[in-house]
Amino acid sequence: MKQRIMSGMRPTGKLHLGHYLGVIDNWVKLQEEYDCYFSVADWHALTTKYDKTENLRQDVLDVVMDWLACGIDPEKSTIYVQSLVPETAELHIYLSMITPQNWVERDPTLKDMAKILKSKEGMGTQVNYGLMGYPVLMTADILTFNADLVPVGIDQVAHVELSRDIVRRFNYVYNTDFFHEPQPKLNNCSLICGLDGNKMGKSFNNDIKISDTEEITAKKVMTAITDRSRMRKDDLGHPDECEVAFKYWKIFGGVNEIETVRCECEKGLRGCADCKRQLGAKINERLKEIRERRRYYEEHPETVEKIIREGSEKARTEAKKVLSEVRKLVRMY
Ligand code: TRP
Ligand code: SF4
Repeated sequence: MKQRIMSGMRPTGKLHLGHYLGVIDNWVKLQEEYDCYFSVADWHALTTKYDKTENLRQDVLDVVMDWLACGIDPEKSTIYVQSLVPETAELHIYLSMITPQNWVERDPTLKDMAKILKSKEGMGTQVNYGLMGYPVLMTADILTFNADLVPVGIDQVAHVELSRDIVRRFNYVYNTDFFHEPQPKLNNCSLICGLDGNKMGKSFNNDIKISDTEEITAKKVMTAITDRSRMRKDDLGHPDECEVAFKYWKIFGGVNEIETVRCECEKGLRGCADCKRQLGAKINERLKEIRERRRYYEEHPETVEKIIREGSEKARTEAKKVLSEVRKLVRMY
């Protein structure tokens, strides 16, 4: 029996290289060894964007197309949309009964999210009830499949820890060992920074999208920060102080290539503009197949729709088994 993996992403629209290198590429490898469930967490999106749903449907499609393009294989993994598996909402109710309020209140990630909301009109400084339940809903996602492992970034580990606490409490309250304690599995990929040297993020306008064209990618790479002390192209460069471009080389270049770039830069034989032109080409080469696949799915929306429907049905079949056991344990009618 394969161990089970469950993970998810909020539908934030088109994904960028940070998602690809930091998360999805990891999932692609894991699907060879594990029984994987990957969720587009549209309910989680509502926790902060309940009043901004006009693009939700397209955002879900974009996330799924990016996953498929990057190599998540619906024959190997189950790709589904959270709200198409209503069993998760039912499980969320049971879990919300046994979760002490102060467990969710001390969640550090929630405090950050609450700040985003504070700027919103209407809510004042209030945090909505749904947002408070964010980590409980995430626990429901994981437990809907009784998953063993949860591949996540470091920012989500606190949530998975809470999931473990909730599992222990459920098993204790209902005198069972039904739920497995899920383990966080840290994504062991290189973190790619944004073009400006900060964390790559959609809202910072410093990202390269998986779905960007080659031309746009090349243009964006030209804006990458380099060694700021360099004025002319024959100035001696300092690759280790080249804040973004050389870091990208280390991710996308081969071993020999990286050494060549380093040597030529240090000797002043390589101008930053040429260097970044080559780098852009390198990144485009790496993304070529992925982008071709993405274009295929863009042109075949019915295929994407079918994958989502079938994946969600399959997820539901598993979810129903877990929920029927949970209902028994809680002694529902
Ligand atoms: N909270 C996660 C994030 O913001 C997304 C997510 C939703 C998730 N459900 C999950 C991650 C279940 C792991 C397991 O990135
Ligand atoms: Fe960075 Fe390349 Fe310029 Fe050197 S030549 S500083 S590695 S961009």
